[in-house]
Amino acid sequence: DSASRYDFVIVGGGTSGLVVANRLSEMKGFTVAVIEAGDSVLKNANVSAVTGYGQAFGTEIDWAYQTEDQTYAGGSKQIIRAGKAIGGTSTINGMSYTRAQKVQIDSWEQVGNEGWNWDNLSSYYKKSEKFQVPTSEQVARGADYYIAYHGEHGPLKVGWPQAMTNSSVLPQLDETFQQLGLPYNRDCNGGSMVGLTVHPNTVDSEANLRHDAARAYYWPYQHRPNLKIISNTSANKIIWESDSRNEAVAVGVEVTGVNGVETIYASKEVILSAGSLRSPMLLELSGIGNPGILGQFDIPVQVNISTVGENLQDQTNNGFSYEGNEFWLGSPTFSALPSADDIFGENAPTIASDVNSSLAEYAKRVSEYSNGAVEEANVLAAFQLQHDLIFKSQVPYAEIVLLPIGNSFSNEYWPLLPFSRGSVHINSTDGSQPPSINPNYFMFGQDLKAHADVARYIRKVFSTPPLRTIVGEEFAPGRKHVPENASDSIWEGWVKSKYRSNFHPVGTASMLPRDKGGVVDAELRVYGTKNVRVVDASVLPFQITGHLTSTLYAVAERASDLIKKRYIF
Ligand code: FDA
Repeated sequence: DSASRYDFVIVGGGTSGLVVANRLSEMKGFTVAVIEAGDSVLKNANVSAVTGYGQAFGTEIDWAYQTEDQTYAGGSKQIIRAGKAIGGTSTINGMSYTRAQKVQIDSWEQVGNEGWNWDNLSSYYKKSEKFQVPTSEQVARGADYYIAYHGEHGPLKVGWPQAMTNSSVLPQLDETFQQLGLPYNRDCNGGSMVGLTVHPNTVDSEANLRHDAARAYYWPYQHRPNLKIISNTSANKIIWESDSRNEAVAVGVEVTGVNGVETIYASKEVILSAGSLRSPMLLELSGIGNPGILGQFDIPVQVNISTVGENLQDQTNNGFSYEGNEFWLGSPTFSALPSADDIFGENAPTIASDVNSSLAEYAKRVSEYSNGAVEEANVLAAFQLQHDLIFKSQVPYAEIVLLPIGNSFSNEYWPLLPFSRGSVHINSTDGSQPPSINPNYFMFGQDLKAHADVARYIRKVFSTPPLRTIVGEEFAPGRKHVPENASDSIWEGWVKSKYRSNFHPVGTASMLPRDKGGVVDAELRVYGTKNVRVVDASVLPFQITGHLTSTLYAVAERASDLIKKRYIF
């Protein structure tokens, strides 16, 4: 029946999927359907409130995925949050808008993804963005920018919260970090991230609301006759043309929704945007993946790509808290982004060479963990690149989010580029069952050590005036648990007992040449298929030092143009 036939079927109406839906439905004469497991959250106050971070956690709009036991991190499971709603994870995230370091995006092209470089992506960062120039009041509290870095006509509102933190804080932080050699960065969104910065957020500054993917890319366009969201509906797998020969040809998607199980047909393309923990699972359920894994579930192999679901890269997050000697109002958006040189000073070259000498061993272990699905030489090449980004290009080593709120001054931090690699795979043939997720947190001693090194740096920051004078006692970790001059093993013990996921999983359907372990090509098409693409955090081949959404919006904008150019001449 024509009601379930569309030109394009997008699975997942989240951060990336709604961009693609919006842009493809600009093509008159082509119909677009979005299959989304969640529902509208337009009226959900846990979503819209600018100060509501965390309120949606554990509610029905949080998938709250559970990992496998984390063997290298003390054994326990972790929760990885992700949004289940029209708007996806952008409806529950922290709203920070920071992009990446230029060299990181350029590295995507260097490894063989033609056209994926900073200059090209820059125009898409801008295309997606509607930058809101801060008011004089916001400027007085630290909002700062170079207008040349920003787009002013895109759908996504980027700016500062109405109520920013007291204007006394930024000069105090700046003076403190200057003493430690970390410069002030007026605008971290131009490809150069290192420094202390007051970054913008994805907020509608005037209405004082979260600007998520749905508010930006869907609700204002919902009346387009060729755009349809099928919500409260879960995709189970891709349906293939029966006589697919050299290439697998998708004809639609099997879903479970309000009418039970049915097929939504796609005459042109199927685009998976279900997120980095879900899109690889849909590939496996559809017969694309490692034959060894598919065989365990009697799933016939459509395309043999052994790396589907591998290369899972997440970060680990931890934090400090201090008693405040002042009282702070408003929403802080301060981040310090020190490089390896900032943290290690004159020891940096020694650490760089220590890490370098471990890379071959790390690569071997990642390959072994994947039972050979990931080739050692490919991981080693990725690790060498990562090592050079950290120690030669000096991309940020860690992000330290500074949170003066009320009468406490806390922070959250995460080393930005850990070496640990994990996986996400199916657990059953039932699409409604969550996947088996193993990020292998702290698989390598270096990743744990990075936490201890950053933690020591943070304590130094809080012991440096003038910051020292505005905070009192250290509540967490507290000097009782982690004394001054504590050893690595004491710091590391604390890290393992308190860390959580940083909720930035990427890489599980990496965009890379096929012989380098890629799942999708530079047009984000799944190898061996004629008309299936992945557009979401799965395709980022390497972790980045920005928060993810700004880059995902830009990637999805570029992906949309790559798709459109095949249909409009
Ligand atoms: P996303 O998760 O947005 O979309 C996937 C969609 O697919 C969801 O709507 C889901 O319901 C749907 N879906 C899944 N399986 C399906 C199925 N089988 N059938 C139908 N639908 C299905 N980033 C940032 O830039 N700044 C920040 O401050 C933060 N902070 C932050 C905090 C927290 C708590 C989290 C969890 C994450 C962040 N992030 C962040 C990260 C960022 O929000 C995240 O990486 C992106 O939103 C992910 O976008 P995707 O498009 O990959 O998936």
